[in-house]
Amino acid sequence: MLVKSKNMIEKMRFAGKLLAQVMAEVDYCLKPGADTLEIDGIIENKMCALGLKPECKGYAGYRHATCISVNDGIIHGVPSKDVILNSGDFVKIDVVGSIKGYCADITRYFFIENVSSDVKKIANAAQEALDMAIEMAVPGNMVSDISASVQNCIESKGYSVIRDFAGHGIGKNLHEKPDIPNYRRRSGDFVLLEGMTLAIEPMIAQGSYEVLILDDGWTAKTADGKLAAHVEDTIVVLKGGAEILTRI
Ligand code: MF3
Ligand code: CO
Repeated sequence: MLVKSKNMIEKMRFAGKLLAQVMAEVDYCLKPGADTLEIDGIIENKMCALGLKPECKGYAGYRHATCISVNDGIIHGVPSKDVILNSGDFVKIDVVGSIKGYCADITRYFFIENVSSDVKKIANAAQEALDMAIEMAVPGNMVSDISASVQNCIESKGYSVIRDFAGHGIGKNLHEKPDIPNYRRRSGDFVLLEGMTLAIEPMIAQGSYEVLILDDGWTAKTADGKLAAHVEDTIVVLKGGAEILTRI
């Protein structure tokens, strides 16, 4: 089911808007001294209050509503009482919520007070790569056009793209076909059709793209300890240009 009906898209749009609203309202709790487990709880409560089912919870044994990745954390940061935010931290929050069984997937980044110019630069690069990639999501283009767009944008700025994780189709399930890598790949290309719903998510690193997975089995960091950035929207491929479901 790669192409979604109007009805399915409407549910995903509703989920997407509500998720965007949640993300627009979490700034207040992202302060020095806060731990990522308490932030996860606040977001889960907000989601539930809005009728969004937290789809990460229970997914492949994951136990939280959100993934919160800090500084050299790329994705799948497991919320923890022991991860305490400091001034200058670069925080990426990844959340999946569903309405009537249809999912939307969003990642937003946040700055804890004043961050370095390096943080601002890599955050801007990831955002720019995402915005450019979304413009490629029109019928007749290929998944590889999205991938190449991200890779070109990121590498031209001197950053690297993470290989070990990819964007993905999304719908009833959080992860559906096709995979959307952030680099050109030789096999497994796909033509984009009107009505496909995709989670596009550049994951990028300041240094090497090598990844280290922590003992919790989830938290993915850069192996060299340099900064990583991640931002994500759920979109629907449309003739006149993609509609972004996860923005208000
Ligand atoms: N948004 C994340 C992704 O696309 C979802 C993480 S799955 C979880 O990979 F189990 F970690 F929540
Ligand atoms: Co995703």
